[in-house]
Amino acid sequence: MSDGEFIGWMSAIQQEMETLLAAQLPNPEHEPRALNAAMRYATLGGGKRVRALLVFAAGELVNAAPAALGRAAAAVEMIHAYSLVHDDLPCMDDDVLRRGKPTCHVAFDEATALLAGDALQTQAFAVLAADHGDLAPARQLAMLRLLSHASGALGMAGGQAIDLASVGQALTLPQLEFMHALKTGALIRAAVLLGALAGDALSDEAMARLDHFARTIGLAFQVVDDVLDCEADSATLGKTAGKDAAHDKPTYVSLLGLAEARRMAQGLREEAFAALVPFGASAERLRALADYIVVRSF
Ligand code: IPE
Ligand code: IPE
Ligand code: MG
Ligand code: MG
Ligand code: MG
Repeated sequence: MSDGEFIGWMSAIQQEMETLLAAQLPNPEHEPRALNAAMRYATLGGGKRVRALLVFAAGELVNAAPAALGRAAAAVEMIHAYSLVHDDLPCMDDDVLRRGKPTCHVAFDEATALLAGDALQTQAFAVLAADHGDLAPARQLAMLRLLSHASGALGMAGGQAIDLASVGQALTLPQLEFMHALKTGALIRAAVLLGALAGDALSDEAMARLDHFARTIGLAFQVVDDVLDCEADSATLGKTAGKDAAHDKPTYVSLLGLAEARRMAQGLREEAFAALVPFGASAERLRALADYIVVRSF
């Protein structure tokens, strides 16, 4: 696929997500207005939508119905938006800039930001659980189970707990990998597998390969996030650069250095590509996304 084609596909999905998410979020003119407005503020009008793109790209392997993919993509982006709102709170990373705007607790207040995160999380599951007659109930349950595990103590929330407990500590490489696999990898993996669950059944072998791909790019995503935190500027990132070092967070850069962390991301990209080989042309967009995740500049 040419770069132009990929960029065109990406911006079409990004636009579609804006419409889908806007339709699934509460009306800011209805009470409770501040909460509704904060949920929309944190979710709409920004973000690369990588997780949504992964849902749609994985859906191409299984001829999934676009509407079912759209709901799964909206659900995972809502969980992600909630995780960012809470990640930025003063009790966590204490950040003031997100997606090029003041963070949710700065634009509203801490209590509203906390509640907006809570309500985004539950809205994600409401969207995924809605009955539109296009998914077998057993599939829908499997998707709900997947997203709930990926968000919880053995997924994103667990990874965030390890992240906070690790400030100032020198983690070993396996410990760091475990933290990254949970805090960021789990939702990225869920995005890929949600797409794959929304269509024809894959063989166990194909599912295992796809799972390996998903875990690999999930880890690569956070390795690159660590690299960018260190080498990009706040204007490009739309969030405060240099926060990891300032907060003494263990990262791939603090443990391995910048050059080795970059090399590691390239190695993960090769590993991800290898996992996709048997899928042939149907995995073209997943391949392009693996590339994007590793070479992105923000
Ligand atoms: C940032 O995620 C937080 C991490 C999990 C590393 P993204 O880089 O996907 O953030 P947005 O959605 O594009 O703003
Ligand atoms: C956050 O990791 C991962 C989440 C679960 C939100 P970071 O704390 O590195 O994310 P950024 O750099 O603030 O986006
Ligand atoms: Mg954090
Ligand atoms: Mg942060
Ligand atoms: Mg970061």
